[in-house]
Amino acid sequence: MKAARILTAAAALMVGLIGAEAQAEQYRLGLITPPPHQWSKSAVTVADRIKEATNGRVEILVFPSGQLGNEAQMLQQLQTGALDFAFLTLGEFANRDADYGVFLAPYIVKDAAGARQILKGGVAQKLLGGVSKFALKGFGWGMAGMRQIVMRGPVASVADLSGKKVRTVPFAQELDFWTRLGAAPTPMPLPALYDAFANGQVDGMQIDFEGTWNSKYYEHAGAVLASNHMMFPMIAVGSGRKWQTVPKEDQAVIEKIMAEELDGIVGAYAEIDATYLDKLKTTSVPVVNADRAFFGGAVDLWYQSWREKTPLLKELEKEAAGL
Ligand code: BEZ
Repeated sequence: MKAARILTAAAALMVGLIGAEAQAEQYRLGLITPPPHQWSKSAVTVADRIKEATNGRVEILVFPSGQLGNEAQMLQQLQTGALDFAFLTLGEFANRDADYGVFLAPYIVKDAAGARQILKGGVAQKLLGGVSKFALKGFGWGMAGMRQIVMRGPVASVADLSGKKVRTVPFAQELDFWTRLGAAPTPMPLPALYDAFANGQVDGMQIDFEGTWNSKYYEHAGAVLASNHMMFPMIAVGSGRKWQTVPKEDQAVIEKIMAEELDGIVGAYAEIDATYLDKLKTTSVPVVNADRAFFGGAVDLWYQSWREKTPLLKELEKEAAGL
């Protein structure tokens, strides 16, 4: 009798568990970075932690490497509710509202630690809240490593960048920087970059140390310019339409864990940049240091122009000056 009761209790538990599984809500999170990238690893951690914290009620499936489309396509899917979450660069946002490109100001911060502070500031918070106008829910800021330059040929001075096709992300601010250097900026999504560099479609790229090492861009490089010339934020967003349908208790868990993991990403980059720079120094490719002066008058001219086009830049400069 006792054994039967135990069996019955176990069976009830099984039924309960199966019932809970059946009720698990599945969501999708898309991003363009490959699986070894910090963003992708953190997305998986976010999903694992949320699943655990909700007893399996909320399951987030992570799709790296642009499997759900490029960022323009993912943004559209988020707006219609066909995609639930994404970690995105600011390219598509800056295309719609130039204010989202202010973080691309050259030398606005000197390193990843400075970028971390800027992403906690008032301008960042204003822009995060502003994504509601794109029918999105903003969870917070992440970032990638500081931007560096990888070129096929040797680089001794800024003149060696002139006339070169340099891969960029399609930010007006970034394109303008390269145009002022006399280069031909060539916007290209990350997943297309390795082949384009290997087959000579571009002469170089604006990228970070992490990607240069993990995706082996250095294999085709003649120089790595350690320039730290721009920061590169990531924004974690959800579909505004879908978010309204998420139960309040699950919303709270998702928001908390997202915030914690995003802070972890941002905090990790000082070390990630240093680690991958050290790795790159073990290759035969020369690493050339480049500072603001290396780029001549282009940086000052860039600021003159963008202060006019996006007055928010002046606010960001004030924040940066106070760091
Ligand atoms: C890039 O397009 O260069 C990029 C995108 C996401 C993370 C890091 C780099």
